[in-house]
Formats: sequence, C-alpha cells, structure tokens
Amino acid sequence: MIKQKKCIQSILPYPAGKPIDEVKRELGLEKVIKLASNENPFGCSEKAKKVMLDAVLESSLYPDGYSYELRMALAEHHKLSPEQFAFGTGSDGLIELICKAFLEEGDECVIPSPSFSLYESNVRASGAEPVMVKCGSDYKMNLSAMADSVTEKTKVVFLCNPNNPTGLMYTASEQKELLDKVPEDVLVVLDEAYFEFARDLNDYPDSEAQLAEKSNIIILRTFSKVHGLAGLRVGYAMADKQIICELERVRAPFNVNLVAQKGAVAALCDTDFVNNTVRLNNENRKILCDGFKKMDLSYLESATNFVAVNIEKDSKSAFEALLRKGYIVKGGHALSMPGYLRVSVGTREECEGFLIALGEVLKEI
Ligand SMILES: Cc1ncc(COP(=O)(O)O)c(C=O)c1O
Repeated sequence: MIKQKKCIQSILPYPAGKPIDEVKRELGLEKVIKLASNENPFGCSEKAKKVMLDAVLESSLYPDGYSYELRMALAEHHKLSPEQFAFGTGSDGLIELICKAFLEEGDECVIPSPSFSLYESNVRASGAEPVMVKCGSDYKMNLSAMADSVTEKTKVVFLCNPNNPTGLMYTASEQKELLDKVPEDVLVVLDEAYFEFARDLNDYPDSEAQLAEKSNIIILRTFSKVHGLAGLRVGYAMADKQIICELERVRAPFNVNLVAQKGAVAALCDTDFVNNTVRLNNENRKILCDGFKKMDLSYLESATNFVAVNIEKDSKSAFEALLRKGYIVKGGHALSMPGYLRVSVGTREECEGFLIALGEVLKEI
C-alpha cells in the first residue's frame, strides 16, 4: 500500500450535482431536468458562443498564460489596475490557489457552516485547520462570531455572499464590522459567485469599493453562474497586487484555456444577456416560492438563483424520489441542511414541472 497524505484522509470527494446523462442512463429516463448546480437555464450569450466556436479552431496553441484580453476587459469593467486580477479554473481553482498560497500546517482558517464545501476541503488539503463557525438556527451567517473566532493562528477567513447552500445574503454593515475587527494581516476571502443576482438588493455590500481601503481582502467572481459558462471553467479574483503576486507563485501557467478566455470576454460585454437572466431569474424564483407557499413549505429568502426549501421530511428520500421523476436537485443531507432541498431556479416550465413533481413526492415518502 502506498504511503498516504495524512491531512487529506478526512476529506470526502465533492458531491457534485448528478449529470443529466448519468441519470438518464441509470433510471432509463428520456427527459431529465437538472436544478442541482445553480447553472444558467438560458444557456449563455449568443455572442460568446460565436467567439468560442471560432476559438476552438486555435486549440493547437497554448492559451495566453497572462489572460491579457480578459484581464484588460475586466480592468476596464471594474475600473481597477490589470495587476489586481488573478484567474482560476473556475472560482474553485482560485479557492485552491488561495489555500495553496497562504495556508500551511499549524495555521487556522475560519469558515461559515453550512457554506460551500470546497473551502473546508481545500483548507484541509493545505495541512491547515478549518475552524467552522455555525450559522444561526435561521441559517443566517454569524459574522460577529466569525470575527471572534480569529486567533493568532488565523491566516484566512472565508465569507460567501449570497451564501451557498442557504441563498441568504448578509448586509454591507455586517461585512464592514467583520473587516474592521479582523487584523490586517489576515486575508478575508469574499466569495461573490452569485454577485449579479444580489447586487441591486438593498444593503448588499459594495466589496469592490472596499478594495481601495483594505489591502487584506480578495473578491472572487465567476463566469459559471449568471454568464452561463460553467462548462468553460473560468473565474477571477480581485485584490491588492501583493496578494495577486502570492497567487501567481503557485498558479499553473495555463490554468484558463483559450476558449474560456475568449468566451469570457464576449460574455462580460453582453450586458443584455446578464440583465435578462437576472430579470427572468427573479420572475421564476417567485413562481417557485409561491408554489412552496401553496404547499405550506417554508423556505429561506433567496438573494440568488436557487432556493433552500424546508420539506420537513428526509431529504435523501425526497432527492431520490425526485430523481425517479426526472428532476435532479441537491438534498440537504449532502449540504448540512437536513430536511431541506436546494433547488436551482430553472425556466418557467422547469419550475412549474418541478413543483408538480415535488407535490407528488411529498405525498409518496
Ligand atoms: C459559493 C460558490 N463559490 C464558488 C463556486 C465555484 O464556481 P466555479 O468554480 O464554477 O466558478 C460555486 C459553485 O457552485 C459556489 O456556489
């Protein structure tokens, strides 16, 4: 038997949303709807599609390791210096880079729970200790308890807003209070994967404005959600140049592929597609939530493109019964939210179909 790495033995592989083809194969279904990974049900920008098809023809060449065009487009978009950006194979890749660059054995990292599970697994893989801070019984993130959990050993704090899997948002003043309390030599990661869905809500933090004041924050964004490019795997970070330099030390040279770089530039420019997605998401999320109300189910007030609904029954059984009806969701049993289902907001037709299936399942189990 080969010698194992001790610090990864407690990590469970990431429970990704089941792929549509796998469910079709396993259950012999013809039609399967995936509402499990918070993807964009409307696909992606037509302009991005065209650019990507052309880019495929250049695939014999390595991509630009500096992501020049994407970097310049983002620098212009965010009014920041090009040197304030780092790129990742999705924001997953950036979470991994942050842990690789800043954490080692003996360090602590403060993480909300429940939240995106890759924070904890990447921290463990670095040899550092995750310090999990529980959300309240209402599932709201407890930022003041998180700030209080910072010790001399803490090197990194992860925040996620809106939070996955709850969909809940914390306010600008809560974020400011935490940032004022946390020492300036501790890196605070602001994971804003769902930014575009929440940015117009009252009290959503303006983290970009904080970059000018705080040199210890890093903001993560992704092209996987509102832009509908999850399959391309491209995310970016915005931070002080010194933080970016540390990430560059451990970044694989060609971690964002050529098609992804070109597609992301075109997607960024297609503001109509983004605005339309947000508008339709809000309409269809209301359909889902109204349906939950009619079934007397409580749900968490979502600031994003998924809703956590309390079915008050075994979520694994509900997840499996929904699969048999051709709907893939995430069960709370896999998300530290027992009794809940996390459902991505689909098209109107998908949401209506899901509500019918859920009603049937709740009678069956
Ligand atoms: C909070 C959060 N962060 C990061 C990610 C990773 O996104 P990606 O790697 O596709 O950019 C996700 C994906 O679901 C997420 O929910």
